[in-house]
Amino acid sequence: MTISQSRNRGRRRRSSAPYLVPLLAGGLVAVALGVYGRVHPPAGYAVGVAGFSGAQAMKTWLATGALLLAIVQLISALAMYGMLSDIRVPAWMSTLHRWSGRAAFLLSVPVAFHCLYALGAHYDSTRVLVHSLLGTFFYGVFVAKMLSLPRRDLPSWTLPLLGGLAFSALVGLWLTSALWFFTTFGVTT
Ligand code: HEM
Repeated sequence: MTISQSRNRGRRRRSSAPYLVPLLAGGLVAVALGVYGRVHPPAGYAVGVAGFSGAQAMKTWLATGALLLAIVQLISALAMYGMLSDIRVPAWMSTLHRWSGRAAFLLSVPVAFHCLYALGAHYDSTRVLVHSLLGTFFYGVFVAKMLSLPRRDLPSWTLPLLGGLAFSALVGLWLTSALWFFTTFGVTT
């Protein structure tokens, strides 16, 4: 029995608004990060660059690491939902899914801290506007997903939708920053 079948069995008996709390909390986090990014005076400096040529290079490689881990998380999620093959899903797949997600999130934190604290949310170019909005959206969706995980009364589409949105936001963040860095300065540290 795949994950969605077991979740569906207990869900038909309950009301349909339980996802409001995780979504509202996620929305609040996204707005709070966005407001902070706009109102606080950019510090210009946040974290040490530890062997990289600068903060941009360090953030680019951390963001790339976070994206690769998120791809592992996506593939393990597809396997867990029985969408990759009919073979029995090994028990370690859910552990891989959880830990690749946690590691991707942890790698993104020093990057986003530098973005928000040192730079703030900028809207001076379409790339940076989209990047800044996706950055706040990513953490909002992440919070909504984490608050939804322990709940057993949510529609079966809630976790795949939130997981998919978080993954898409991270891909968009990478395309609007790390890809720009690699195509502007080359694949350099
Ligand atoms: C939380 C909200 C975020 C805001 C407001 C934000 C904002 C910014 C801004 C304004 C820049 C400078 C862009 C430029 O002038 O080139 C930047 C750079 C960067 N950001 Fe973010 N960011 C956020 C989150 C993230 C996250 C979550 C990641 C990746 C996981 C990320 C990865 C990067 C990278 C790699 C750069 C350096 C390359 C570049 O300069 O574009 N950011 N960010």
